[in-house]
Amino acid sequence: MFTVTKSPNIEAPKLITSLPGPKAKAIIDRDRAVTSPSYTREYPLVVEGGDGCLIEDVDGNIFLDLTAGIAVAATGHSHPQVVQAIQEQSAKLLHMCGGDFYYEPLAQLAETLVAKAPFPQPSQGAKARVFFTNSGAESVEGALKLAKYYTQRWRVIAFVAGFHGRTYGAMSLTGSKSVQCQGFGPLVPGVTHIPYGTHESLDYLEQNLFTSMLPPSDVAAIVVEPIQGEGGYIVPEDGFLERLREICDRHKILLILDEVQSGMGRTGKLFAIEHWNVMPDIITLAKGIASGLPLGAILSRPEIMTWPPGSHSNTFGGNPVACAAANVTLQLLENGLIENARERGLELQEGLTRLASSFSCISPPHGKGLMMAIDIYDNQGKPDPAKRDRILQDAFYQGLILLGCGKASIRFSPPLVITAEQITVTLNILNEVLKKYS
Ligand SMILES: Cc1ncc(COP(=O)(O)O)c(C=O)c1O
Repeated sequence: MFTVTKSPNIEAPKLITSLPGPKAKAIIDRDRAVTSPSYTREYPLVVEGGDGCLIEDVDGNIFLDLTAGIAVAATGHSHPQVVQAIQEQSAKLLHMCGGDFYYEPLAQLAETLVAKAPFPQPSQGAKARVFFTNSGAESVEGALKLAKYYTQRWRVIAFVAGFHGRTYGAMSLTGSKSVQCQGFGPLVPGVTHIPYGTHESLDYLEQNLFTSMLPPSDVAAIVVEPIQGEGGYIVPEDGFLERLREICDRHKILLILDEVQSGMGRTGKLFAIEHWNVMPDIITLAKGIASGLPLGAILSRPEIMTWPPGSHSNTFGGNPVACAAANVTLQLLENGLIENARERGLELQEGLTRLASSFSCISPPHGKGLMMAIDIYDNQGKPDPAKRDRILQDAFYQGLILLGCGKASIRFSPPLVITAEQITVTLNILNEVLKKYS
């Protein structure tokens, strides 16, 4: 029975069975017999319900969730105001196809996103336009099409270890793990990957690639995560993003920011790019935008989003229920959750810094706000993915839900409603787990 919402002050984590419990085990067995083997389930967690940062499994065990369902449940699991908006909208209209008909929740969400978008304000009209999608990959896919359509150029620059999704265009931009592209070729042509985040990489781009096999006049776009997500929560070197903007301006290349993971308040700003003084041309969003309902968006400067009717559309993008959830999500973010992400992020960073001074097997934290990670090292100080995976398992068996990222990193991407006490509990559990590895 789901009890979390009935006991908001419940002690967490609280494990009452061995893991997986009997009900979880039965569901895992059924699931494994019939679902795709491509799914990556890190540990045997069968979720029954959630509330804020808490997850209850089918056997009544309560976990502290530091993943937010991979950076999605921005307002916490099943925030009552989001649930209410979903219930009210569902009773009125479930679907009508936003690409063919009008409804207010979609227009309202587009207005809010445009008002907040970090684009220059033109003397007349709106400063951005919005196309709605169903996922991060679909946002990236559409942004790629838009950039090629607008520039009539065919090449694109992306980054090693970047992650943009699994559809063909997005997969072709992804430079994360070989298993994600192995056997799926040929990929979309014209993509060049360069190392992420360093001036050295941009020197190589300008001095070697642009002068040899990658004429900048053929390049439609540079696609970049302002903070690399799946790649390891990597913050680029100072001046890197500014320099990308300058390179784009010089060669009339579009700068596409993939904010699917870094956006929607997670870093302590609505868009992570607001930590820098850089204006993008196109932004891709998804994940946290609707607190868990499937929704994504492409935001573009208006002079770029000129594709004509019928050139790009979809059936489900901007679904009214998802838009209603997103409208409330944005209000909640603005009314305290972005600030909470910043404040709790600082506490998490301080705590992880303290742990790093006690345990030589972890790096100091990197990231911003509640997009924070540590790297796990072996005894020689090299990244140790196997040890990272063991630590994740141990944390799970202590009731802490964490995921990896990068080569050997552990990411902390909790719901933005996390409390100071829950940060302390997280750090205490991690401290106990790490003792075994010191
Ligand atoms: C930066 C980034 N872009 C795109 C995607 C793909 O999003 P989705 O899984 O919704 O297709 C992800 C997913 O992790 C991501 O982190």
